[in-house]
Amino acid sequence: MNANEQPDGILLDLIRYAMNIATVVGGLVLVAGLLVIMVVRANPASGPSPGGEQASQAVPAPTEAPAAGEPAEPEAPEAPSPGLLALGEEVFVNQGCGACHTIEGVAQGVVGPALTNMGAVAGGRAGEAGVADAEAYVRQSIVEPNAYTVEECPTGACAPGVMPANFGDVLSEEELDALVEYLLVQEGGG
Ligand code: HEC
Repeated sequence: MNANEQPDGILLDLIRYAMNIATVVGGLVLVAGLLVIMVVRANPASGPSPGGEQASQAVPAPTEAPAAGEPAEPEAPEAPSPGLLALGEEVFVNQGCGACHTIEGVAQGVVGPALTNMGAVAGGRAGEAGVADAEAYVRQSIVEPNAYTVEECPTGACAPGVMPANFGDVLSEEELDALVEYLLVQEGGG
C-alpha cells in the first residue's frame, strides 16, 4: 500500500512542481511579450524612422485630444468669426482708414480706392501685384502700400506714397489679421 502510494505522491509533487514552473515561465513570457510590444510601439515615434507614415502618425496623436473639442477649426479660414470681423471694422474705423477709403455704410473717404468690393477685387489684384492670393494682396496693401500702386482712385490716378506706410508697426498681429479678414469679406458690389 505504502509502496504504491509513495510513487504516486512523488509523481503528483513533480506535476505540481512542473505546473508551478510553467506558471512562472508563462508569466515571464507574458511580461516579456508586453515589454516587446511597448518597445516596438515606442520606437517608430521617437526614432528617426525613414517611413514618413509612422512619424506622421505619431505627431497627430497628441493634437487629436484638444482638436476634438474644436470641430470648427478647419472652417475658420472660410468663415471668419463675427468677433474677428467686428474687430476688423473697429480697427478700420479707429485707424482712420475711412478718411481715405469708402466702405458702404461705414466710411466715405475718396482719397484712396473704395474698399466696398475689396473681397471680389483682391484676387485679380494679387495677380497684377505678383503675390500669392487675395489675402496676401490685402495684407501687403496695408503693411506695404507702396509695393503696388492701384491705378484708379475716385479723384483720378492713384498716387504712391499717399497711404501711410507704418500700419505694420502700429497694428498688432491680431488687429492686422482681423482687418485683412474684414476687407476680404467686403463684396458689396461697385
Ligand atoms: C491718407 C489716405 C489713406 C489712408 C489713411 C489709408 N489709405 Fe489705403 N490707400 C490710399 C491710397 C491713395 C491707395 C491707392 C494707392 C496704393 O495702392 O497705394 C490705397 C490703397 C489701399 C488698398 C488697396 C486697394 C485696392 O483697391 O487694391 C487697401 C486694401 C487699403 N488702402 C487699405 C487701407 C487700410 C486698411 C487703411 C487703414 C489701416 C488705409 N488703407 C488707410 C490711401 C489711404
